[in-house]
Amino acid sequence: VVEKSLRPKKLAEYIGQEKVLANLKIAIAAAKQRKEPLDHTLFYGPPGLGKTTLSTILANEMGVNIKITSGPAIERAGDLAAILTNLKKDDLLFIDEVHRLNRAVEEVMYPAMEDFALDIIVGKGPSARNLRLKLPRFTVVGATTRLALLTSPLRDRFGSVHRLEFYSLEAMTDIVRRSAALLKSPMDDAGALEIARRARGTPRVVNRLLRRVRDFALVMADNHITLEVAQAALASLEIDDLGLDENDRRVLRTLIETFNGGPVGLTTLAAATAEEVDAIEDVYEPYLLQLGFIQRTPRGRIATRRAYDHLGLSFPEASRPAD
Ligand code: ADE
Repeated sequence: VVEKSLRPKKLAEYIGQEKVLANLKIAIAAAKQRKEPLDHTLFYGPPGLGKTTLSTILANEMGVNIKITSGPAIERAGDLAAILTNLKKDDLLFIDEVHRLNRAVEEVMYPAMEDFALDIIVGKGPSARNLRLKLPRFTVVGATTRLALLTSPLRDRFGSVHRLEFYSLEAMTDIVRRSAALLKSPMDDAGALEIARRARGTPRVVNRLLRRVRDFALVMADNHITLEVAQAALASLEIDDLGLDENDRRVLRTLIETFNGGPVGLTTLAAATAEEVDAIEDVYEPYLLQLGFIQRTPRGRIATRRAYDHLGLSFPEASRPAD
């Protein structure tokens, strides 16, 4: 059984990211009036904030097909050529993790995005020549957790670039209410608020927590999500008061206990926690930074007093040299 999708399919159903939405609405209306495809569009920001969802919404609102792929899935220039030559006019090509396209593939992307052209080399040695194939016009929507890892020629080819931010508590509460309604899960306001405020400003997290709390409510509590049910379920999932889970806390504790609160380099911290460098940087760090629990300094990551306080550890007043 496939889990019921909670993703909104139209702009009107989408909650939060008001600035991004306002800009997208204009872009959609303008493209439609001109009877042109949307400009190439880039979404960036931490995982789970809606990059894929917004891409499918763009396709739905424009009334076009979406083809979904990712940077690492396109291994060779020929793979991209195959994708591009299969596109129909006005299709939307969604490339997740677009910062992970390799050099040779990127080279094919440039003329494709700029001129809707596919440059291929036929023949070898002195008789090799360039052949330019015309492609139908289309829209690339790229998504990345890390704008800085995009090469500048690629970034420059996206006409519209949008940063997704962590959602406000109000938006999170509305999202969890909407999701509970779709799942036909009775939930009171205090229950909604409790799940929302422990979901790290991230819709993917709030929907995951909701599904677990909902199981808990069904089995233990008459199927009704109240504050008490939410608290009990989240406690059993070891989600703390700020929404940190055991993995988040482990990263923080390692920084504090193994490295005296830092500064420690990212690779060292990753090795000590048995996590990927990318996971530390893309998944754990953004929310810990947002909470003000860690800081990035030129010499590495440091834990702040708030992090010590949250974990119930005492902050070493004078032991750390000033930066
Ligand atoms: N489900 C996941 N993200 C959502 C959003 N931004 N709005 C409404 N429902 C969502």
